[in-house]
Amino acid sequence: ARAATPGGNVEGAWKALREEAMGCTRCPLYKPATQTVFGEGPLDARLMFVGEQPGDQEDLSGRPFVGPAGQVFDRAMGEAGIDRTAVYVTNAVKHFKFEPRGKRRIHAKPDAGEIDACRWWIEQERMLLTPKLTVALGATAARSLTGRTVTISRERGRPIALADGGEGWITVHPSFLLRLPDKAAAEAEFARFVEDLRNAAAYIG
Ligand code: URA
Repeated sequence: ARAATPGGNVEGAWKALREEAMGCTRCPLYKPATQTVFGEGPLDARLMFVGEQPGDQEDLSGRPFVGPAGQVFDRAMGEAGIDRTAVYVTNAVKHFKFEPRGKRRIHAKPDAGEIDACRWWIEQERMLLTPKLTVALGATAARSLTGRTVTISRERGRPIALADGGEGWITVHPSFLLRLPDKAAAEAEFARFVEDLRNAAAYIG
């Protein structure tokens, strides 16, 4: 069900939510990060995609999936025939977690406490948008959305019940594809990722 908002104004409620998220202090990740990276996309989107957390470029630009992982995501979406501008894209954790190494900021995995602290935001986003299907990109998103530890290889590519009663679909995180050293393996995994995306879109018709 949609969240109760005065006059059922989803856009106004979403804007207020986003504004509130900009000042989030629910976990310590807000301190070193540049800004909250909230979800974006049409509020009537039927597909929602959930990543792990913003990376370096997302932290600086304030937008999800604009860096290297975002480029892989865009390419896979294109091959799957899904218009990225027609879907809503967000993250399980909305601040960039990193370790400074010289001038560089190296991605650090959010822990269960941080995922749990941030879950409140994605629950609100889901209540407002009520997507038909929510695609978890990788284990962090899958954990956030299902409330349990998920083995991607075992549960990918088919409908999965989410903790809030909604329907989900699990696949790999695009940055996994960037880490594969072997070119042939990377191409095969990319093709599997595209297939998962295509099947998710086909599932909701
Ligand atoms: N990786 C993610 O999980 N999300 C982003 O927004 C960027 C990279």
